[in-house]
Amino acid sequence: MSAPERHPFLAGLSKHRGAPPTCLVIFGASGDLTSRKLLPALYNLAVDNLLPADFALVGFGRKPLPDGEFRAAAARDIAKFSRRPFNPEIWSRVEAAVHYQAGAYDDPAAFAALASKVSDLERAAGRALQLVSYVSTPPTVFDAIVENLGRSGLAARGLGSAAESKVIIEKPFGHDLGSAVRLNAVIARNFRESQVYRIDHYLGKETVQDLLVLRFANPILEPLWNRAHVDHVQITVAEELGVGARGGYYDHSGATRDMVQNHTMQLLALTAMDAPGSLSPEAIRDQKVRLLDAIRALRLGPGGDAVRGQYAEGLSAGERVPGYLGEKDIPAASATETFSAVRLAIENDRWAGVPFYLRSGKRMARRVSEIAVQFRQPVDGLFARDGRYDIAPNRLVIQIQPDEGSTLVLNSKVPGLEPRTQPVRLSFRYAATYGSDTPEAYERLILDAIVGDRTLFIRGDETEASWRLYTPLLESWASAGREGLESYASGSWGPGGADALLAAQGHAWRNTGR
Ligand code: BG6
Repeated sequence: MSAPERHPFLAGLSKHRGAPPTCLVIFGASGDLTSRKLLPALYNLAVDNLLPADFALVGFGRKPLPDGEFRAAAARDIAKFSRRPFNPEIWSRVEAAVHYQAGAYDDPAAFAALASKVSDLERAAGRALQLVSYVSTPPTVFDAIVENLGRSGLAARGLGSAAESKVIIEKPFGHDLGSAVRLNAVIARNFRESQVYRIDHYLGKETVQDLLVLRFANPILEPLWNRAHVDHVQITVAEELGVGARGGYYDHSGATRDMVQNHTMQLLALTAMDAPGSLSPEAIRDQKVRLLDAIRALRLGPGGDAVRGQYAEGLSAGERVPGYLGEKDIPAASATETFSAVRLAIENDRWAGVPFYLRSGKRMARRVSEIAVQFRQPVDGLFARDGRYDIAPNRLVIQIQPDEGSTLVLNSKVPGLEPRTQPVRLSFRYAATYGSDTPEAYERLILDAIVGDRTLFIRGDETEASWRLYTPLLESWASAGREGLESYASGSWGPGGADALLAAQGHAWRNTGR
């Protein structure tokens, strides 16, 4: 393939060179996400020289820890999890900006101490710093942190200016509609919506951002992107891993809350929304909310729009692995679903009558996240009506991960004297075209929050719209217990009911092999 045109989002990165002086506080400094994702992301931003010239990081956690120990632990995490090798010289530049503050999340005195630390850092920098608070703790303390940020005055710093105080909220954003509404209310008491950055890390993935470019920078697609031409859409977010050490969290969550309600629905919204009036964050988020609001309520119960499953033992990557009930911290009779599939009907002019199938599961046959748009086959196509030809439906598959790229399935003539056709794939792979060194989702998201770009973050009404759809389903499953919960072997493509969900409309999942 020829040399790439300049990638718009890479070009976009240069705007970040003007990032305002910033103090980033991470609540949950000794948590897993901080170690695996946030610290490595910050390090990689430093490697690319994208952090603000005046930058300070304060890790906030319950455990008392001298700055030196927090720095040493951060260096170890970066060496282990960074996408690029640890370079001691770069780290020595970053390290001096790393601080630690111990305190309880519900203790106003700890936030008063934090406020004076931020003032000290400002004095040392000789200029005002915008405060970005990253709430990366278990959700049980989200409220306390947000309230204390408000009470201590930290939330109101720089209000109305470009450098106003910002808050990044990690998932899970609520457990159902009621808790999401309550959390939004706590946030709204302490912050303006313009200060709030709700994370869905899927939006930080390169391929997910490219969805907007693919759809709206290639005008040949738009005339086809509707019920007249699209037969159905399948969105798969499959993982090979099981719950691992996260059983305690996962058993209260399940596949629908953990993946479908947020990540998979974001993929759906970007795939199906109408063109926004501009690339402004609000124009894009308005369209996503309109799309989510147009989804018909799920039909519950047997034969309805949803299927759930739980993995049993089986073979994963060639190894025998235990079933979900045999995993650490999982109650023996747990009814938590590790697989969830839904059939969605979008009731608008563009999509009425086109099923959107979404599924996500752990311990599936392979790790793949993709969006497959299957186009209609004319009943009376010239070649299709002649029984000798193998005519496949045209399909556009956008592979989010791994092996990022997109593929268009077309039919071609097989060379030779026999009248034969065969489906072929026109394929674009990121790695081949751009190289494989793409930034991690968290790099972009942290940087966007620092510069105040909310495009890739979830708005309050957006999260509520998605919860409105899934809460009745989750409640019906909770009251049914294990009844209707199917089992599937680890290393398979999920329970039989998921196949039946599509077969009811003459469709079948794309279960590709490696
Ligand atoms: C997280 C979920 O949000 O996303 C995890 O809590 C899941 O259960 C993870 O494994 C998947 O993210 P990625 O980026 O590896 O696809």
